Amino acid sequence: MVGEPLNVNEFQELAREALPKMYNDFYAGGAEDQYTLKENVEAFRRIMIWPRILVDVSRIDMSTTVLGYKISAPILIAPTALHKLAHPEGEVATARAAAACKTIMVLSFASSCTVVEVASSCQAVRFFQLYVYKQREIAAVLVQRAERNGYKALVLTVDTPRLDNGSNLAAYANKAMDASICWKDIEWLKSITNLPILIKGVLTGEDAIKAAEVGVAGIMVSNHGARQLDYTDATINVLEEVVHAVRGRVPVFFDGGVRRGTDIFKALALGAQAVLVGRPVIFGLAAKGEYGVRQVIQMLKDELELTMALSGCPSVKDITRRHVRTERERL
Ligand code: FNR
Repeated sequence: MVGEPLNVNEFQELAREALPKMYNDFYAGGAEDQYTLKENVEAFRRIMIWPRILVDVSRIDMSTTVLGYKISAPILIAPTALHKLAHPEGEVATARAAAACKTIMVLSFASSCTVVEVASSCQAVRFFQLYVYKQREIAAVLVQRAERNGYKALVLTVDTPRLDNGSNLAAYANKAMDASICWKDIEWLKSITNLPILIKGVLTGEDAIKAAEVGVAGIMVSNHGARQLDYTDATINVLEEVVHAVRGRVPVFFDGGVRRGTDIFKALALGAQAVLVGRPVIFGLAAKGEYGVRQVIQMLKDELELTMALSGCPSVKDITRRHVRTERERL
């Protein structure tokens, strides 16, 4: 590709050129037929924006808060594994970019830099994503280490009792991870930490109600970037069901397929408090290291700001359900 990338899709192209094919496939790919991988992105295209005119949009304020932490825009960095395959500085570069963009990074349990390295290299607010191993005491050690090193919340990923078959990583993880974990274990997790717990991987209203009942601090609607169960619905299609079920008891976050500022606007209109981005961040990292991650987040922020201005929404709270129409509503 010639010239500077103009959007996330062009960053994806740059990353593909920069990475060995095997690594690019690992980052960009999805489960099995990759039906949901495509749908996560495509489903956004079937939701239309309904803008308002003659609103004072001379100033746009994208700032918001997540668990009480003020961030510059409702865009967080999703936990994704093994950033050193994308760039030698790995998660340290990603975390520095998060700090520069005044947002929150969720560090993956499967990171290639340690919890301590990332903590000591940046001022960003960081959350720690957790998988639970069969040996529960390992989880306890990791959680307490994250807590000691200033991580502000735990993100328990629950859509991964097994990984997609086929790799050594999957074989290892399937052996080590505790597939028996269930709702009652949230109490156990609470008993070993003072950190707020977010639950990542909720796709139904039914589970969202259970999550709110067991007292989590937030819910993340996610299908793991379509890397786990193929033929789940696109996450943007299930967001509203979850939001309705939760009835404001806990904040709902969203990830899956966000590639444009308009996607973020749509997710906020359907009730998400903020979105997380996974692959776009890795594409930025692979293409240009820390600077690339900053560019990707800045592009998404610029696009969101423009969308808000053109839709008559000067602040995040002005984005409402009446600013979008789903396919069903237009028929
Ligand atoms: C992920 N994701 C993920 N989630 C998690 O909880 N722990 C992890 O270690 C990983 N690892 C991981 C690796 C790679 C390469 C990808 C692409 C994704 C899922 C991630 O947090 C998020 O849910 C999705 O990436 C969101 O979809 P998009 O933004 O990639 O479309």
